[in-house]
Amino acid sequence: RRIACLLGTLLLLSLAGCAGDRSILDPAGPAARDVRLIWWVMLGFATVVLIVVTALWLYAFKPRSVLRTPAQERRIARRWIVGGGIMLPVATITALLLFGVPAGQRMLTLPMGEPPEVIEVIGHQWWWEVRYPGAEGGEVVTANQLVMPAGEPVDFHVSGADVIHAFWVPRLGGKIDMLPGRVNKIRLQADEPAVFGAQCAELCGVGHAHMQLHVEALPRSEFEAWLTARQESALSELSVADATYDDARDAFMTHCARCHQVAGVSQGGIGPTLSDVGGRATLGAGVIAMEEGAVSHWLQHHQTLKPGNKMPTHSDIETDTLDALGAWLEALSP
Ligand code: CUA
Repeated sequence: RRIACLLGTLLLLSLAGCAGDRSILDPAGPAARDVRLIWWVMLGFATVVLIVVTALWLYAFKPRSVLRTPAQERRIARRWIVGGGIMLPVATITALLLFGVPAGQRMLTLPMGEPPEVIEVIGHQWWWEVRYPGAEGGEVVTANQLVMPAGEPVDFHVSGADVIHAFWVPRLGGKIDMLPGRVNKIRLQADEPAVFGAQCAELCGVGHAHMQLHVEALPRSEFEAWLTARQESALSELSVADATYDDARDAFMTHCARCHQVAGVSQGGIGPTLSDVGGRATLGAGVIAMEEGAVSHWLQHHQTLKPGNKMPTHSDIETDTLDALGAWLEALSP
């Protein structure tokens, strides 16, 4: 009984990990509900297989009362190999396949009525580039945050810039590889406005664990407003609006502009765009929360906070300059 109690407690403890913003067992959209169903069915199948195999294994230890001839032994062995080794796995896998294929089909970006919103997500070592090619008024580009309309299907076109990454929003559906030189597509939907956690799901180097993505589903009208605020022209105005940040802009041009874009100030193109960085939830692809002073803190400690990231250390820059830079970047909040 004590063993049963212990096993029960362990099972309950393990289920405590099933909630939260990255749980496939807590779906928030149709594709994720399919994934959850398949997960439970596979767990059920696996449990049955475990019980049957364990029972057979114990049965094999049973002492035999009659001695069999070698021919009889061979016949019995053949029966087990054909039945248990071939037919049973074929039947089990076929059943799971018949069950899983339609769910996979539903995540394909097949043509349907109104074409859904397209969002391009590109994996970099170790951050996310997010593009909205269909935005009214011109393409919108951001990084490390994915805002999507709620209550409607969205087609994600994903690829990798350097190595293979994988796009995975556990509460919205299955993961999909992001390959350099190829665009993979998946259709996902968030039923209600909410915030979701997402994570790169393919080992992509030393920063893999620190490649997280903040996903937010908004009502259609708020989504449109969010896009409008991130139009190149709006962001350009934001970045040069305030003369008190002139020194910070100069420092940015000296130290950051060759890698980072800020609309109206620099082209960048190597690291994530910073045009709207002040409006993001996190810094460093989910490493620290965005709050007052966070950017300066990040600039001083980023190699400790996210070891191996490709931005050089800034030990040669005065702390005052980093503080000023941080204040300006935090003000880039559309
Ligand atoms: Cu990108 Cu793992």
